[in-house]
Amino acid sequence: MANGWTPDSWRTRPAKQMPAYPDHAALATAEAQLTAYPPLVFAGEARSLTQQLAKVASGEAFLLQGGDCAESFQEFHPDKIRDTFRVLLQMAIVLTFGGHMPVVKVGRMAGQFAKPRSSDDETIDGVTLPSYRGDIVNGFEFDEGSRVPDPGRMVQAYNQAAATLNLLRAFAQGGYADLHQVHQWNLGFVGTNGKGSDYEDLANRLDESLQFMAACGITAETTPSIRETDFFTSHEALLLPYEQALTRIDSTSGDWYDVSAHMLWIGDRTRQPDHAHIEFLRGVKNPIGLKCGPTLDGGDLLRLIDILNPANEPGRLTLIARMGSDKVESHLPALIRAVQREGRTVVWSCDPMHGNTIKSSTGFKTRPFDRILTEVSRFFDVHRAEGTHPGGVHFELTGQDVTECTGGAQAITDDALSLRYHTACDPRLNANQALELAFLLANNLRNSRADLDRQRRAAAAE
Ligand code: PEP
Ligand code: CO
Repeated sequence: MANGWTPDSWRTRPAKQMPAYPDHAALATAEAQLTAYPPLVFAGEARSLTQQLAKVASGEAFLLQGGDCAESFQEFHPDKIRDTFRVLLQMAIVLTFGGHMPVVKVGRMAGQFAKPRSSDDETIDGVTLPSYRGDIVNGFEFDEGSRVPDPGRMVQAYNQAAATLNLLRAFAQGGYADLHQVHQWNLGFVGTNGKGSDYEDLANRLDESLQFMAACGITAETTPSIRETDFFTSHEALLLPYEQALTRIDSTSGDWYDVSAHMLWIGDRTRQPDHAHIEFLRGVKNPIGLKCGPTLDGGDLLRLIDILNPANEPGRLTLIARMGSDKVESHLPALIRAVQREGRTVVWSCDPMHGNTIKSSTGFKTRPFDRILTEVSRFFDVHRAEGTHPGGVHFELTGQDVTECTGGAQAITDDALSLRYHTACDPRLNANQALELAFLLANNLRNSRADLDRQRRAAAAE
């Protein structure tokens, strides 16, 4: 392979956020087991996602990426998978119908287990144990048996990812995602208040459009995209022994693919250019994401782009800005300008979650909904000012009626957080909040699209 890349070349580089497995023999056994297991996705599907993301890069589509902060073994249940899938479908409908854009749907699902931590250890009452790094590494309970990294958990995570993906494929292709079902996607507790009723209005309009199309001869039989949808999976490629074991040569193209998910991203804490995570991901052909936090400058970014997408292939690289609502305006324009100046083709996406995490007065890790809205709005404004396409969004959300982020139409207060705070890691938007955001996004998208069209027409007329 060009430039000395092999699936294990990351092992010669410094690696942050990697668990220290005490039992090396057990680690080797788990890796060997996973290496022999079937791929979870096909290389051809990853290529199709790259092509769809290329459309996002050129301003012709929008990326919606979302799901749990961390999937967990305990919360594994078909209803939870279904509810997250359907809130993503609802959001996609709002964005397609209201924002006049095709939407590329990517779940943070079927593999989103490993978590970066600010410290390797945690101390409680004088006892120090390894930090919890996600169910694929160790257990959440604060006792030694749970916290010692256990390689067998990688096999359990693989099995859970396989079963999750199986259900997602069935939902996407088996009739659940049929546009005639839009009313059924409205979850009971979202109901017909607030954005629930806006959603019902939109669903009624969609019904009418479908009836009109049917009268013109366009039905689910003639047009399969009415009855089924593409749904892709993604996670942070953090736990490299797991990712390496699931990296295979695609017999069609001869290229290496990480077949644990369609898309993989690099976290904000593991994006050092000469370190292991960048080394690993530069060699796989999947579409990849790069989290861009406020400490990244234009020069660093261009260096990373050179490593990760030297051929400037459209759709290969999605830059996921996660600045914090108070830093978007000061930090994002320089990154966009650096990319534009060098003629690099990327998807710009906005993660308004990770830069807006605070501790509530009641002691919970939370995210105020108004800061999330502000970050998204400013992301759109900055792109409008720069004349670039705000290509997508990246959310931590769930279809469950949780109380983890404050605010929104339900006005969740600090005191209410304890009612249904279920996340295994960071606070997620609930279905109501997610829908509220989708309506705001649809408006922004329509406006920025109109702006870009105007600019293009003006440029063509000159
Ligand atoms: C995440 O997406 O869960 C995450 C840890 O994000 P970041 O790397 O941007 O902090
Ligand atoms: Co998170």
